[in-house]
Amino acid sequence: MSSQVAASPSDTLVGVSVVDGDLTLTDGERTVEVAAVWLRDSCTDAESRDPVSGQRLFDIGDLPPDVRVVEARVSGETLEVAFAPDGHRSRFDLGELLDAVRTPPRDDRNESGKRLWPRVTDLGGLTRVPWARYVADPAPVLRSVVEDGFALLAEVPAREGQVIDVAETFGFVRETNYGRIFDVRIEDNATNLAFTGRAISPHTDNPYRDPVPTIQLLHCLANAADGGDSGLVDGFAAAARLREQDPAAFSVLATTKVAYRFDSPDAHLESLAPLVGLDAGGRIREIRYNNRSMRVPALPREEATAFYAAYRALADLVLDPAAQLRFRLDPGDCVIFDNTRVLHARSAFQAVGGRHLQGTYADLDGLLSTLATLAGR
Ligand code: FE2
Repeated sequence: MSSQVAASPSDTLVGVSVVDGDLTLTDGERTVEVAAVWLRDSCTDAESRDPVSGQRLFDIGDLPPDVRVVEARVSGETLEVAFAPDGHRSRFDLGELLDAVRTPPRDDRNESGKRLWPRVTDLGGLTRVPWARYVADPAPVLRSVVEDGFALLAEVPAREGQVIDVAETFGFVRETNYGRIFDVRIEDNATNLAFTGRAISPHTDNPYRDPVPTIQLLHCLANAADGGDSGLVDGFAAAARLREQDPAAFSVLATTKVAYRFDSPDAHLESLAPLVGLDAGGRIREIRYNNRSMRVPALPREEATAFYAAYRALADLVLDPAAQLRFRLDPGDCVIFDNTRVLHARSAFQAVGGRHLQGTYADLDGLLSTLATLAGR
């Protein structure tokens, strides 16, 4: 065992030592053991990573299975490490290394770090951001989509096809069997209830796709109809409330795979997924809620009874009027929302007067990439 003490860039005293071939870092408050294989895999020297793309140049099988640290030396803000048995040497920025071992990986898709709004009053009002302000500074609106699950633009030019331009300000259109763009208005022989004047209860779109489109945009071109108001519900907040109120019911919805299905003359789509999708850490990551397209399999009697009781309990939260943000889309308004989290709804309307929205799908990865690019990361 060898050990050293040095001042890190954050002026925290750092002890560095090699114990049984692995590295141990101490910052005075806690000690972190760093596996040699992880450290070797994280090397960024020119032998390990392409200097232009930063992409790794070796496969896991290229590393010796018994890789170990034999020497670790601190020089200013740099940690120099020698590995055995291949004699590889590498340097690490001490501050970056400490950040990497202290900070758990971040996932912008799960419930952590988001502002949940179980009740509309938790939102503190509805903000419409004028198109010109959004174009000049898109980051605040895009952050709202990530953190609140939605954002509402106003004064977007009310012309056909404009919704594509909105999507392309932050990402890429996800084309589906509905086309690059879909018209939400009353149609004869509609293949989807969305294209009628019926009320549509809160739902996420396209749960029968795998993966689902993770963002939806709806742009209002005309809304002179009686009715046809819009609603949004925070599905993560509803699921989190169910977890508090009835953990067993939450667990049933998170572990029972149900089918979602859509059929039309030219499309037959089916996926199998739980209503509440969790990540490996048990955090809520995806809601698929759509009474029109869900097909519950013929479960054993007791499981079916438990599933429907849990589904009803979640529905009570989702359909609670206090949970639904209601607003009217006026021509030029464009709502952007996270289709893995926020459910959308609309009230019934009459054909007379005319209501015409255009929608498109896009994805959260593109939006998150744009936000990271704007932040200079
Ligand atoms: Fe929809």
